[in-house]
Order: sequence, then structure tokens, then C-alpha cells
Amino acid sequence: MDRSLVITNAQVQAHVTLEEAIECVEDTWRWHGEGEVVMPPKITTDMSEKGIPNWFNSMPSYIHPLDMAGIKVVGGYLENPKHGLPFIRSNLMLLDPHNGRLRALMCGDWISDARTGAQPAIAMKYLAARTDVLTVIGAGQQAYYCVSCIARLHHIRQLRVCDIRPEARARFAARFPEADFEIVQCATNREGCEGADVIITITTANAPLVEEAWCKPGCLVLTMGSFTETADDVALRFDKLFIDHAAQGLHRGNFKEMADRGIVTRDSIEAELPAVVCGRHPGRTNPEDRILCELVGMGSPDLCIATRVYRALLKEGCQGVLSIDMMGEE
Ligand SMILES: NC(=O)c1ccc[n+]([C@@H]2O[C@H](COP(=O)([O-])OP(=O)(O)OC[C@H]3O[C@@H](n4cnc5c(N)ncnc54)[C@H](O)[C@@H]3O)[C@@H](O)[C@H]2O)c1
Repeated sequence: MDRSLVITNAQVQAHVTLEEAIECVEDTWRWHGEGEVVMPPKITTDMSEKGIPNWFNSMPSYIHPLDMAGIKVVGGYLENPKHGLPFIRSNLMLLDPHNGRLRALMCGDWISDARTGAQPAIAMKYLAARTDVLTVIGAGQQAYYCVSCIARLHHIRQLRVCDIRPEARARFAARFPEADFEIVQCATNREGCEGADVIITITTANAPLVEEAWCKPGCLVLTMGSFTETADDVALRFDKLFIDHAAQGLHRGNFKEMADRGIVTRDSIEAELPAVVCGRHPGRTNPEDRILCELVGMGSPDLCIATRVYRALLKEGCQGVLSIDMMGEE
């Protein structure tokens, strides 16, 4: 009979590469665009009102081409970095969509980091005019995976690193000892943004980190943090706005506050990225356009990567350590 697998982060990393994770993100976005994925918007459980300064998102989905259902549960845990643990922690549950049987419980930490990093790499394929000068604002764990994925897909000549903590900038730069691009640590966001081809904000801040006047014609700004990261003028004066998933992206991330104030609406959004990836809507059409895109993250790419790991382990003959059956039989 079917057995349920419990899969560790180490097993995940041994069975999927970063290149494969990037491929999974693009495949899943294309399937979304083709109407092949069922994915309700994520739900946040914020525990701060009870004195626990943490939150987690429940992110269910079903991917028809993989015939896999599941849920990602990912949260931010404020005290973790003090204890040497990552701020973001993720777990995944895979289910048989035909009978509800538990297929696997899986540590989702690496999967979440890898898919988060893959998102800007794929978005840049469709939205960037040039990729020579890349700026990251927020030099944490997610930014590390963003640069790692981008460097696999795009030519970067110079990487500019901005962070309010100088030690974070230095630590980040040291994580790329073999980089074939120049790494510049910037004291201000303005220094990082002026002349940049692509600017990625991926911080824990809730502040206008990027100003419109600093962004050159043709630049691409990708916001990935959970709160406000650009000044209003960026959304108001840029030529085009894109988003990964409008139903959830207007209620969280950089666009949330602006949507609450009516500055950004569904009509201001040019297109969702899955529609671009599947060819239903054009991406960048003018090399001079300034484009702002919010990538707030979807759970389905995690499910796609997790499915690869699960099927690779089954192919190896992995028996699993758990047997959970709905009907009570052993
Ligand atoms: N979009 C997605 O798919 C996705 C996925 C996972 C996490 N996230 C979000 O990404 C963000 C970063 O997560 P992480 O795991 O990298 O956290 P992290 O703690 O590892 O790094 C965050 C960095 O942001 C810096 N920072 C904070 N305020 C800043 C400011 N005002 N200016 C410049 N830098 C500032 C911090 O010093 C830190 O180095 C969080 O908001 C998280 O919720 C997004």
C-alpha cells in the first residue's frame, strides 16, 4: 500500500538542483497562465495580537499537469536570527488529489528559498531591458537566493548591495567568493539605485526604500518584501506595473498600502506574470519603459519542486517512515 514519506531539508537538497527549481517556477507560472493550476489566495495567521511576534501563511494549490495537491505553510519568526535560525521557515504537505491520502510531509525551507530566488530570475527574462547592473536592497537570506538564481540565467557585470546594516552588506558580499561580477557595497539606497538596470527590494522593512527620481529609463524594479518598499511616485510615474498574482498581491507586499489608498487598483496592473510567461500577454515591449513588478510569492511553485523531490525518492525505492491511512487499515 501507499506509504507517506517524511522528507528532510537535506533529502530535498540532494534531489533537486537550483537549476531545476528555476525550471519549476517557470513551468508553474506557465501552467497558471494556461488555467492548469487551482490556487486560492494565501491566508495569513498573525499571532502578534497574542504577544507572539510571528505570522504564517497557508498556501494551498492543485497542479493539474502534475496531478498533485498540497499546501505550503510558511512564516516569519522574528527571534529566529538571534538563535542562528532563518527568519523564514516553511513546511509542505503533499496530498493525493483523488482520495486525500497523505503522500508526504516535507521540510520546505530550501524549497521556499530556491523558489523565492527563482522568481526574479524568471521575471527578468520577460521584463528586463538590460541586466548588467543589478541592485539588491536587503542583504538577507532571500536576497542571497535571488542573486544565486539570477546569476545562473543572466549576465551581471556589477552587483550593488544595500542594507541598513553595514555588517549585513559585508556578510552578503562574502557569500559570493567566486562571483564573475563586481560587488559594490552601497552606503545609501540612492547610490545603489542610480543607473541600475534592475533593482530588487527584499527587506523586512515597511518604508519607501526606492524613489522614482533615482530610477533611469528602462529600469526594472522588483519588490519582494512583505510590506511597503517603494515611494508612491514609483507606482504613479512608472510606465507599467506587473504582479505575480493580483488577487493576493494587492492585499500584501508593496502594493497593499497603495491599494488601500486607491493609488494602485486592479486596472493599474498591466498583467499578471503567468499570463506573460504563457504568451497570452506581452512582457516588456519598449526598452525605455520603467517597469515596477511585485513578486509576493505563490505556493504552487513550491508544490511543483516538492513533487519532483517526492517522485525522485519514490523512484529510488524510498519506503517512507510513516503510514497514515484514512480508513484505518495498516
Ligand atoms: N516574495 C516572496 O516570495 C518572499 C518569500 C520569502 C520571504 N519574503 C520576504 O522577504 C523579506 C526578507 O526575508 P529574508 O528571509 O531575506 O530576511 P532576512 O532577515 O534574512 O533579511 C532581511 C534584510 O533586510 C534588511 N533591512 C531591513 N530593513 C531595511 C531597510 N529599511 N533598508 C535596507 N535593508 C533593510 C535587514 O537588515 C536584513 O539584512 C521578508 O519581508 C520576507 O517576508 C518574500
